[in-house]
Amino acid sequence: MNRFDNKIALVTGAASGIGRATALSFAREGAKVVLADVDATQGMAVRAEIEANGGESIFVLCNIGERTAVVNLVETAVQQFGRIDCAVNCAGIAGKISKPIHEYPEEAWLQQIQINLIGTWYCVKFQLEQMLKQGGGTIVCVSSAAGLVGQPENSPYAASKHGVNGLVKTAAIEYATQNIRVNAICPTAIETPMIMQGRRKLAENPEALQQAINFQRMKRMGQPQEVADVALWLSSSESSFITGHTMAVDGGAFA
Ligand SMILES: NC(=O)c1ccc[n+]([C@@H]2O[C@H](COP(=O)([O-])OP(=O)(O)OC[C@H]3O[C@@H](n4cnc5c(N)ncnc54)[C@H](O)[C@@H]3O)[C@@H](O)[C@H]2O)c1
Repeated sequence: MNRFDNKIALVTGAASGIGRATALSFAREGAKVVLADVDATQGMAVRAEIEANGGESIFVLCNIGERTAVVNLVETAVQQFGRIDCAVNCAGIAGKISKPIHEYPEEAWLQQIQINLIGTWYCVKFQLEQMLKQGGGTIVCVSSAAGLVGQPENSPYAASKHGVNGLVKTAAIEYATQNIRVNAICPTAIETPMIMQGRRKLAENPEALQQAINFQRMKRMGQPQEVADVALWLSSSESSFITGHTMAVDGGAFA
């Protein structure tokens, strides 16, 4: 018996990084998985990997920043598999610009809010509607350490992730007696394309890479699997008395 046998998991941002590791882990542990992402090529590659290992999944092209796309995602998941037991919302962007607040370009600011906060809100809202109909479920939002403390020169990211944590805590309270648990994970530096090729281009910037490594007390970056493992635990019955957490996965950074 696997931990997620007979469970339906939905993972956004499933084409890469933390979402990919989470989707593969769910499939390995018995769940049927709905993969959602804007990147169809990589998303279909994750699907192929799941199928090659004997698992079952579908890929749904979905920009979480668009309400109709998220409605379609939840409807497709339910049409295909009948329910959504475990939702993990990983999709997000970190922005490519480093600027103080008064200089940050407005359009880029709004784009991060649209995807990271409003997009995550759409996901949570429509996942909750389905979970209420079916009598329960779990939701995990992959927020960030930048949802717990400020992040200089990256204000829209920090604001959006603080917003996600507020949404998660409120949802946890509102649905606590309805068999729905809602938690957030707040990672520090995790070795994924977002951070290696992102705003500070760690892959080509040894100084920035060392800074990112030093931020963790363990003096290393985290791996996507180390976040996926926490996401699965928060989605499992092993964490049945835990809701409303904004859990740092941080190699001791906030100790
Ligand atoms: N890597 C880190 O250090 C780190 C730290 C803290 C938090 N996070 C958060 O973890 C989550 C996953 O990031 P990652 O590091 O795995 O990055 P990643 O870039 O490897 O993966 C993100 C995935 O989300 C998808 N995506 C982006 N915008 C989307 C949209 N509008 N709709 C649907 N899919 C979309 C991308 O195509 C990609 O597949 C993000 O929410 C990120 O903010 C990452």
